[in-house]
Amino acid sequence: MTDKKIRFETEVIHAGYHQDEHNGSLVPPLYQSSTFTFQNAEQGEKRFSGLEDGYIYSRLGNPTVKILEERIAALEKGDAALAFASGMAAVSAVLSDLTKTGDHILCSQGIYGCTFGLLQLFKEKYEITHDFSAMDSPETLYKEIQSNTAVIYIETPINPTMKLIDLEMVAKVAEEKGIPVVVDNTFSSPYLQTPLTKGCDVVIHSATKFICGHGDVIAGLVIGKKEWIQHVARTTQKDMGGIISPFDAWLLLRGLKTLPVRMDRHSDNARKLFDFLRKHPKIDTIYYPGDQEHPDYHIMQKQMRQPGGMISFSVKGTKKTAQQFMNQLQLIKIAVSLGDAESLIQHPATMTHAVVPEEERRKMGIEDTLLRLSVGLEAWEDIKEDLEQALGKI
Ligand SMILES: Cc1ncc(COP(=O)(O)O)c(C=O)c1O
Repeated sequence: MTDKKIRFETEVIHAGYHQDEHNGSLVPPLYQSSTFTFQNAEQGEKRFSGLEDGYIYSRLGNPTVKILEERIAALEKGDAALAFASGMAAVSAVLSDLTKTGDHILCSQGIYGCTFGLLQLFKEKYEITHDFSAMDSPETLYKEIQSNTAVIYIETPINPTMKLIDLEMVAKVAEEKGIPVVVDNTFSSPYLQTPLTKGCDVVIHSATKFICGHGDVIAGLVIGKKEWIQHVARTTQKDMGGIISPFDAWLLLRGLKTLPVRMDRHSDNARKLFDFLRKHPKIDTIYYPGDQEHPDYHIMQKQMRQPGGMISFSVKGTKKTAQQFMNQLQLIKIAVSLGDAESLIQHPATMTHAVVPEEERRKMGIEDTLLRLSVGLEAWEDIKEDLEQALGKI
């Protein structure tokens, strides 16, 4: 069976793993070893010089991690991948590699709070500047790309406002200008969207989320062209050292097997909850890419398999009302993170995006009454009833 011909639902289970290379073990073994022994000194020399393939030390490569990297590369339709200790370790390795002092990064209008924090740090320490762009047309991009723009950095759907960016459109302009496009694909997972097939250059994941799916791992992934991935492995990953542990890689391989089944259920539940929430008198605005009135609905149809399991909404009232509503929830847990079996709710203005200054937050559309719901895998009726009873109390 060649990996290229098989379907996504099969690849999540099989890609990158060959039982005959591992004593027939049905599932990938956990190589929980920090280092690897050489048969003799000469072999050690050859491994270090690159004359012989093989493992040396787990910061430079590990067999369990390699299976995960090959699997995610296949799922994202990329050549190669690297696994990291967290989504932020992945983001920082990629941006450190692609930029130097004096460069500029053009970002989507809305990015994860800690990515925002990292960009502030780049500005203060290395004079790498950034701007936010609506990226809503080629004209906007032509206007906002600067002569020193080294990276176009995109989240779509944007966390937490669920705006979408047309990846194919951005990739075309970027190619013309010779600028790499990096996409944080955390909200979609490769089941819903594969940015590399739209012409983008690099995909990043906080694998902590849908890829893991079980709320028990913090990890990151980067997928791209083989030569570039090998370069990152030898530089920013090896020397900054933000590598994944073999056990976390093993847990991700386990979680990945059910990704399509889970994503179908997350999406299905979200669709039903959107229908309930949009009619509720206590809801002010609702942001969900499956909303036919969503201004970016046509982009969802163009580049996503389904709208996904994330819904953001604001309640009528004030920040206090939003917090009171959260405090009334019983089944839905108050927690940051997303993509878990458990439904999770958080308040971006005081939680995931608290580091973003208020003015910037407002430009991103993060009002004090906005809440982000990661729709879990529970019976949708139970999630609905919990939302209903809590809304009834504000
Ligand atoms: C869109 C997005 N990117 C990156 C990250 C960072 O990932 P991690 O928490 O695994 O470092 C997050 C975390 O919430 C996120 O939501």
